[in-house]
Amino acid sequence: MRQYSIAWLPGDGIGPEVCDAARLVLDAAGFEAEYLPGDIGWDFWCAEGDALPARTIDLLRRTDCAFFGAITSKPAGDAARELSPKLQDRGLTYRSPIVRMRQMLDLYICLRPCRAFRGNPLNYRDNIDLVIFRENTEGMYIGVEFPKVPEEFRAIPAMKRIPEDAAISIRSVTYDSSRRIVDAAFQFAIRNGRRKVTAVHKANVLRATCGVFLEAAREVAAEYPQIEFDTANVDAMCMWLLKNPLNYDVIVTTNLFGDILSDLCAQMVGGMGFGYSGNIGEKYAVFEPTHGSAPKYAGQGKVNPLAGILAAKMMVEWLGETELARHIQSAVADVVARGSARTYDLGGTATTIEVAHAVADALRFARIVAGSQPHKPHPDAGVHTPTEDMVNMRAALPQRIDSHGTKVEELAGTGAHDAQGG
Ligand code: IPM
Ligand code: MG
Repeated sequence: MRQYSIAWLPGDGIGPEVCDAARLVLDAAGFEAEYLPGDIGWDFWCAEGDALPARTIDLLRRTDCAFFGAITSKPAGDAARELSPKLQDRGLTYRSPIVRMRQMLDLYICLRPCRAFRGNPLNYRDNIDLVIFRENTEGMYIGVEFPKVPEEFRAIPAMKRIPEDAAISIRSVTYDSSRRIVDAAFQFAIRNGRRKVTAVHKANVLRATCGVFLEAAREVAAEYPQIEFDTANVDAMCMWLLKNPLNYDVIVTTNLFGDILSDLCAQMVGGMGFGYSGNIGEKYAVFEPTHGSAPKYAGQGKVNPLAGILAAKMMVEWLGETELARHIQSAVADVVARGSARTYDLGGTATTIEVAHAVADALRFARIVAGSQPHKPHPDAGVHTPTEDMVNMRAALPQRIDSHGTKVEELAGTGAHDAQGG
């Protein structure tokens, strides 16, 4: 195994403790990497006026991929008030660093698997196995927002319908970005033996933006006749997902709808303790548990680390270490099925790190027996192989992103210093 170079971004709140748990499992799995810590999060906003400092962006340029814990984001008023007094009058605007990383590095796929591990007492239904492909760079997240209608907009006739003091958020959806996310969903379906792709939209109301998305989705779908394709309005989709979750397989959608649907789907398979993401581009990727920083639990060592551990599993798989990813996935399945270590959300009393140790123990066992005989997981653990993630979608190991460094430079300044940042 080559030695990988990982940007390690624990962030704040519960970020550091779930990162420690993930690291413990990575080490137990025998994953060889140098972990380069990076500054990110609320403290850096308050002290420096930038939650994603330039030195961290530089770190991303020097590494194979990044692992991100969680960070606190607060509304605009709080962000302004908590900024260091010496930075108060500089017109700085807070923008979520994870959103900036996704856009800056063109990590256009947000991959969110939602799979019911057998024996999880929180499963809404057994056998749920959904994968969400969320467009990750545009839509409602472009960060072009106005606290009231700018004067120059008033020349546009349709704008006259909007009260002058209205706040405005711009949603932008392009044909090309829609095509590539839908294509990624279909490629994934083909390579992982999935049967169906569902494109989720609201084209009956958001006729322009969702119209483009839907048109692109239909065109891409026509190129994959072997995969079933259907479409659904996002409101109906929420209803159908709760009613018949097993009817769905791969879901592809725009940025904000994907954000919302992925929390709903995570809850169906055990809650945010099981929600994990890969923010994936052509050359770089950032892996993270989907949950937030949960400040009220920070430092207590009680939150469920499995989301972070599964994010780490997705990371090693993306790096090409499929076998190792498979072992981590089986170990998690084993711990969930046995119920040997459960955090409070699962009705247990185990601490964050105890669960990580339980996964590490299951892993060591898997690695020892892998050489001599096939690993025999707990009979209820289910067959969680092959793992679901992106390894098959990549032609080669990641190149470092210096090759598209210009793009990073161009966008690096558009965060905290962009007066229109969202
Ligand atoms: C997520 C989160 C982020 C998002 C926040 C933290 C900006 O909710 O990754 O789903 O909205 O994308
Ligand atoms: Mg979210």
